[in-house]
Amino acid sequence: MRKMRTQRAIAVLASVLLIGGVAACGNSDTGGGGSKDDGKITMGFSQVGAESGWRTANTTSIKESAAAAGIELKFDDAQQKQENQIKAIRNYIQQKVDVIAFSPVVESGWDTVLKEAKDAGIPVILTDRSVDSADKTLYKTFLGSDFVKEGKLAGEWLVEQKKGATGPVNIVELQGNTGAAPANDRKKGFGEAIAVNPNLKIIASQPGDFTRAGGKQVMEQFLKANPKIDVLFAHNDDMGLGALEAITAAGKVPGKDITIITVDAVKDGMQALADGKFNFIAECSPLLGPQLMDLAKKVKAGETVPPRIETEETTFTQEQAKEALPNRKY
Ligand code: AHR
Repeated sequence: MRKMRTQRAIAVLASVLLIGGVAACGNSDTGGGGSKDDGKITMGFSQVGAESGWRTANTTSIKESAAAAGIELKFDDAQQKQENQIKAIRNYIQQKVDVIAFSPVVESGWDTVLKEAKDAGIPVILTDRSVDSADKTLYKTFLGSDFVKEGKLAGEWLVEQKKGATGPVNIVELQGNTGAAPANDRKKGFGEAIAVNPNLKIIASQPGDFTRAGGKQVMEQFLKANPKIDVLFAHNDDMGLGALEAITAAGKVPGKDITIITVDAVKDGMQALADGKFNFIAECSPLLGPQLMDLAKKVKAGETVPPRIETEETTFTQEQAKEALPNRKY
């Protein structure tokens, strides 16, 4: 009798330990955050804004992919302001979403809010643009482009085109918004590539904030201040498209009097390239949604993901743009 009671006590103790162990395993899932584990995933996403055709395509990709993946998406448009992004991230932390994803408007100044998310147990995925935080444990992964490479490809194409130049080639540069990763990195890559030919000189470089209006306005200033502009390097299609208006209004022929190089390859940019108004585009893909949702599922499941995932991209000449345009989705 006593032996039976002892056996029963051991069995009860074993099952208590087993249940406790399973529960502890569930809690140790770094992906789950403060949310309840109901099998559904809620993602809080803070978007930069709606500054360009690229951004519109990126937002569409994220919304459509979330719906297709069965992920509930909470979406916020930060209107190109870091303080709005920080506010949105704090809201998502309070709401105990499963995953936070965002495209940081600028590279610096994220450590405090990222630490708050980490302390709340909510994993963060950076998408499109990265941050300069030294502590890489503040986010799970980065999904996006190699912006330095995009600038480099643009610069290398120009070096090839101008290899026979005997005198100075005057370049003006329209940068993205100050402090943004694509602005910093494209500038760097382009500058490094053209450094091989001392004839290639950047005579003016200013932010046009990735918008058409910004591109037009800054190009007007460039044209007024510089009688001889040979090349425009615009950090995105939209600024290049805005600059077209300024160039035409100044009585110059875009694509002929001024060689125009841009980044993105959205439909309007590709049309300008096919029409001979642009000369070269380095592609930057906005279609990050499907990979982002896949990463969110993995991170929520506690799977290890690579620290950096880069998008595959190409470049376009005028001839290649004519071929690619009919099938361009965005
Ligand atoms: O971060 C990607 C960049 O942001 C795109 O090149 C530009 O068009 C957008 O505004």
